[in-house]
Amino acid sequence: MIIASNFKTNHTRASTQKYISEVTNFVKNSSSKSELIVFPSATSLDKFDTSITIGAQNAYATANGAFTGEIGLDQLDEFEIKTILIGHSERRHVLGETQELISSKFNFYKEQGFKIVYCVGEPLNVREQGNKAILEYIDTQLVGIDLDYNDLIVAYEPVWAIGTGLTPSNEDIELIHSTLKKTIKSPILYGGSVKVNIAKDILSLKSVDGILVGSGALKSEDYIEMIKISDDLA
Ligand code: PGA
Repeated sequence: MIIASNFKTNHTRASTQKYISEVTNFVKNSSSKSELIVFPSATSLDKFDTSITIGAQNAYATANGAFTGEIGLDQLDEFEIKTILIGHSERRHVLGETQELISSKFNFYKEQGFKIVYCVGEPLNVREQGNKAILEYIDTQLVGIDLDYNDLIVAYEPVWAIGTGLTPSNEDIELIHSTLKKTIKSPILYGGSVKVNIAKDILSLKSVDGILVGSGALKSEDYIEMIKISDDLA
C-alpha cells in the first residue's frame, strides 16, 4: 500500500530532515513493503539519504523562467526529485488553480516521466447532492488528464474532509473508489482527515490502495504508526 505524507506549509528544513531520518531509520530496521512518499515544503527539498520517495507539493510547468514565486524542473532536478503532487484541493480552491493550469502541469511533468499523485474531490455542496453529482464533479477534474499514464497515482480527497476532522463513511469511500476504479487503473489513495485511529479501517477497504495524509502524519511517530498498520494489512 502507499502511505503518503503531505507537509503542506509545515516543518522547517531542520524538522523535515529530522522527520525523514526518523522514518528512514524505522524502515531500515523493519521489513516494510509499503510504498512511502513524503511531500515536504519547497524550501525543505533536498537530496535526502533515504529509501522514502520525496516529492514536490507543487511546481510550475516549466524548466525555468520568469515565474516569480514558483519552482520548476531545474530546481527539482537538482535534488533528483521525480515525484509531484498535482491538483491538490488547496491549490485548486485556495490558490485558484484552474483545470487548464492543472492539466498543463500534469502534461509537462508526465512528459518528464514524473510519478504524479493527482488529487480529485468534491466540495460540501456537491457532496450534499449525492453520489451521482460527486462522480460528475470528479469527471470535470479529470479533463485533460491521461488516466493511462503509467506513473499515475490518484488521490480521492473530498474538500470538506480535508483538515476538518470529518470523513465520509467507509461505505461512501468504498463506493466512490470502486466506481472510479472502473475507469482508472492506477492506485487510488484516500485523503482527508486520516488519523492513526482510523487508518486501519480505511486501509482495509477493498478499493483503497493507500492514504494521503496531512495533519495526521505531521509527527514522524504517527506516520510510522500508519506504515505499521499498512504493513500489518499487507
Ligand atoms: P488532512 O489533509 O489529512 O490534514 O485532512 C490531507 C491532504 O490535504 O492531503
